[in-house]
Amino acid sequence: MAEQTTEQKKQRIFSAIQPTGVFTLGNYIGAVRNWDKLQEQYECIYAIADLHAITVMQEPAKLRQNTMRAFALMLACGMDPERSITFVQSLNPHHAELSWVLSCSTMFGELSRMTQFKDKSRRHSDNINAGLFTYPVLMAADILAYNADLVPIGADQKQHLELARNIAQRFNQRYGDTFTVPDCYIAPQGARLMSLQDPTKKMSKSDENANGCVFILDDKDTILRKFKRAVTDSETEVCFREGKDGINNLMTIYSAVTGKTFAEIEAEFAGKGYGDFKTAVGEAVADHLAPLQAEYNRLIADKAYLTACMNNGAEQAFRLTRRTLQKVYRKVGFVDRK
Ligand code: TYM
Repeated sequence: MAEQTTEQKKQRIFSAIQPTGVFTLGNYIGAVRNWDKLQEQYECIYAIADLHAITVMQEPAKLRQNTMRAFALMLACGMDPERSITFVQSLNPHHAELSWVLSCSTMFGELSRMTQFKDKSRRHSDNINAGLFTYPVLMAADILAYNADLVPIGADQKQHLELARNIAQRFNQRYGDTFTVPDCYIAPQGARLMSLQDPTKKMSKSDENANGCVFILDDKDTILRKFKRAVTDSETEVCFREGKDGINNLMTIYSAVTGKTFAEIEAEFAGKGYGDFKTAVGEAVADHLAPLQAEYNRLIADKAYLTACMNNGAEQAFRLTRRTLQKVYRKVGFVDRK
């Protein structure tokens, strides 16, 4: 019998985040925190999606600064350039190249149905550019270029991932097996953190009310203040129940940063009011974020390291995607490159 000495090939993960400011607690709990844990088990590739960011108006100097900050934040959140590939999307030209080819296998009707496009065109009605419309094709290219098996995302990106799967399947059907059809990885808890001011809406940096959104670099006082003002309901009992959107959201956050179960949280706050609970959530979040903030401050002071690191990651990324691009170009009938 053949000896089974060869280590089983690790599954591959790809995910990305836009550099449109400091990550929100939603980005962190819904996505980035899980990226860190996944590094144990998978071959991971993580990018700062600056190509996606220019689908809405950006001030160039600010985008460059935000990209550097987002990269530092990603490392501070635990992404380890020694274990995973970490880079900035625009440093690997294959994303944009593949996006063009895939856009020719994507239907206008499919893109028209994307809820994020509809939502963003309402919010940026003076700049409904073609990139905003084809944004999900670029996201598909990000994933398919690496033949990723799994894509960890928050619930709001699920529709885009479904589209990436459809594009991969359509391309494979037309040209023969080329791409891995990726699955999404949505964390069992916190996949959709809600605004602290309107718990029926997703927590987002574009929240009109600044108190609705916690940023992971907020200082302790700001975090405590935002949680103290969190909108709840007219009852008094801390328990996870349908209709208690505000409390459910706070319990989800508290559970995510302390590791306590909902039953443990209910027992801890039995007989206590919402005020005590909100303070405890604020404290726990601030304590949880403190080491990450210290690490960010250390990293952002070392621009040379960050620049070297993102370029090194991009070179590794480029080597992986070159094979996919060669295969795709052959399949669609482009002439050989000398
Ligand atoms: P972005 O930058 O809007 O968000 C990054 C990640 O954070 C998740 N997220 C949330 N999760 C829970 N609760 C919330 N309130 C919340 N808000 C945001 C998002 O679901 C996402 O996982 N198009 C993507 C970036 C991207 C990408 C990719 C992702 C580009 N290419 C390829 C995966 C694979 C985006 O704009 O995410």
